[in-house]
Amino acid sequence: LLNEYDHFMLKEILEQPASLKNTLENRIKNDKVYLPEVETFLDTHSFERFNKIDIIGNGTSYHSGMVGKSIMDKLLSIPVEVSLSSEFTYEHGKLDESKLVIVLSQSGETADTLTALKEAKSNGAKTIAITNNKRSNIARQADCLISMNAGPELAVAATKAYTSQITVLSLLSIHLCVQTESPSEMFLKELIEALKELPDIVDQTLVMTEDAIDSFAQVTEDQPNLFLIGRGLDYVLALEGALKLQEVAYLHANAYAAGEVKHGTMALVTPGVPIIALATQPHLKGKMVSNIRELKTRDGYVFGITTVGDDALTEVVDEIMYIPEAHSLLMPIVAAIPLQLLAYYSGTVRGYNVDRPRNLAKSLTVE
Ligand code: F6R
Repeated sequence: LLNEYDHFMLKEILEQPASLKNTLENRIKNDKVYLPEVETFLDTHSFERFNKIDIIGNGTSYHSGMVGKSIMDKLLSIPVEVSLSSEFTYEHGKLDESKLVIVLSQSGETADTLTALKEAKSNGAKTIAITNNKRSNIARQADCLISMNAGPELAVAATKAYTSQITVLSLLSIHLCVQTESPSEMFLKELIEALKELPDIVDQTLVMTEDAIDSFAQVTEDQPNLFLIGRGLDYVLALEGALKLQEVAYLHANAYAAGEVKHGTMALVTPGVPIIALATQPHLKGKMVSNIRELKTRDGYVFGITTVGDDALTEVVDEIMYIPEAHSLLMPIVAAIPLQLLAYYSGTVRGYNVDRPRNLAKSLTVE
């Protein structure tokens, strides 16, 4: 099953061009998104009846939900809230038949998420599950199931599940947007085009980043702490990168919204502390540069990740990595690749079993 790979985690990171292709297979036809399962669901529960969307998930699924919220905020006019399932069950706003709850779970078996799904249903909300396991409890109990088709994910850390979840959330956002009165045709067309190109872009990203990220993992081998900073979608991405590093490299990695560091965390920045600065969102790069300058005055070691052809960061960082440019809403997929690789190489250089990290399990069936 592993073929030439040392670990499932590496195999699963490297197979993302193929898993994304599978997720997108038969989903875009004649430049239109095709989700027949959602169409059937909306035949019974028309989209106009919903006045709010809640997205729920845990861990990596929560992070992809945060990206999904940003995409929906751009395409839909109803409020979208994202919550941790473990919180949502016990602390949620008003739930009734006018609420649509989107349930994210790779395994489809996470107890926190299953309980939250039941809570939503028992209050009359309608539910769409996005999972990678069609036969799971969550898949069976939701009103509508969208299968991610990413293929089995065996390493404990979620990698290809995250990129496929965001891809499905993009398809779903487009599908829901088309149901509204005034979908922005131009914007949808651009996003659909970008989705079609995604597997190739991820392929290029793997080629462009793997060696450099391996070297960065080796130089940070002795560091117990690492910060990741970003703004907007790059902040969400920072949260996901930090989770991967905690999980497989046992690193005290923390993510911060770049503008917040000066409000307290700056006190932790000592000379040489590694900081990954993510700058993939064009409208936020200027402010990122100012935030990086502040960190450089404290002698932090800044490794910047930005898109090819952009030299805004070049002067201010210690090291720079360029990744291909995609639609800004899809950059959390592209830029996740070097962060997944960093977690993998940081774990292996420290000699850890990255496929089976201590204290963790692939699916958590207790609350
Ligand atoms: C992180 C990771 C976990 C899961 C979380 C939810 O790499 O794998 O944080 O994302 O336990 O799991 P699912 O998506 O199966 O509900």
